[in-house]
Amino acid sequence: MDAIEVLTRLGAPEGRANPYPLYAALHEIGEAVQVGPGEVLVVGYDAISSVLRDPGFRVADETRFDESFPGWRANPVFVQGADWILNLNAPRHPRIRSLIARAFTPRRIAGLEPAIATMADELLDGMADRGADGSAVEFMHDFAYLLPVTVICELVGIPEADREGFRPLARDLAGVFEVTDAETLPAINAAATDLLAYFTGLAAKRRADPRDDLLSDLLAVSDSDSGRLTGAELLHNLTLLLVAGFETTTNLLGNGLHIVLHDRTAGAAVRDGSVPPSAFVEEVLRFDSPVQLTSRIGYDTKVGGVPVPAGIGVTTLLGAGNRDPRRFADPDRFDPMRPDGGPLSFGGGAHFCIGAALARLEGTVAFPRLLNRFPEIAAAGEPVRRDRFVLRGFDELPVTVA
Ligand code: HEM
Repeated sequence: MDAIEVLTRLGAPEGRANPYPLYAALHEIGEAVQVGPGEVLVVGYDAISSVLRDPGFRVADETRFDESFPGWRANPVFVQGADWILNLNAPRHPRIRSLIARAFTPRRIAGLEPAIATMADELLDGMADRGADGSAVEFMHDFAYLLPVTVICELVGIPEADREGFRPLARDLAGVFEVTDAETLPAINAAATDLLAYFTGLAAKRRADPRDDLLSDLLAVSDSDSGRLTGAELLHNLTLLLVAGFETTTNLLGNGLHIVLHDRTAGAAVRDGSVPPSAFVEEVLRFDSPVQLTSRIGYDTKVGGVPVPAGIGVTTLLGAGNRDPRRFADPDRFDPMRPDGGPLSFGGGAHFCIGAALARLEGTVAFPRLLNRFPEIAAAGEPVRRDRFVLRGFDELPVTVA
């Protein structure tokens, strides 16, 4: 199979459902492949890692938006997106990222652990009630969607009463990572506008009456260091935290349970303590990465032996790098105790996921609780995969728990 055929298949529903044999075919071709005149695909672990760590590769920022989509300013989601650290290069990127990082402290993240445990237990109680008579419960809806969004609300400081209306907006906004046609844009723009209006109002309240939450900390950082973080930069990056942190973590939970449903020994090993929860989470991240790819703009160089002309689009297939046989022994085997861990699922270099510690914490708190609470958890019918490629996960994962 040549690279073009692999790509065509990756674009088809079966390829999206199970891209891994196609990634294996790409690994046979090389560390990187040029696909057409405008795109280089990077699939090897080392090559991906070097691209992400090389400041010569830039992310698509406003300048690129102007070149490739001149009408972008008419879309609220792209106006906000143009301030997201995900879409910024130096010098704006390090300036804004370091300010956000100052509020996103390890202490604040670690401090969320008891709240995550309580939230997880409450959701498990609900699943236990609904499934007590042996009927199916829906894990994605009843647990995997609710835990991460509630955790982000808790972190940012969104009052409980506001959270219900918030979840669908966060979900709609996450569609921005995979805009397939212009028809999906109105809903994404509407969510971006509503969320911004909401955050503007909440910021005014927190400014008047600060609390012990991330929003109050960010406001303090921006107000004390005048001009270093504008009001718009702050609010826009709050919406980024939602889109970047919600569906990704939902998919970590869903993809992990899906593995357990097909490999009972994996669940048993977490339950009996022979596999530490953190090792289980790392292997889920490697084996079925919630984010399958990210992209950069090339400069005149070579990657994995393939020439990269300046300005070309470079797609790093994180999900493929995680199954690279040059890096991982027996890459298609789920083995939490493998000595060669170290997935690319949170990226690398300057844009390394700012929420990695939080996502890992959610996984390490949630999985042992789920698996201990429901030792007999089993699939109840066919899961429904979310028809996406970049964010990989399920829409529905029905299970029985009793
Ligand atoms: C399992 C869950 C998650 C996965 C797999 C994930 C994955 C990623 C990846 C691959 C990147 C780098 C993108 C690039 O280099 O272009 C990234 C960046 C980012 N993530 Fe995550 N993420 C997760 C959870 C979270 C959470 C919980 C938050 C926040 C609450 C978050 C916030 C961010 C932000 C703000 C960035 C941009 C960082 C920058 O550009 O400097 N993520 N994430």
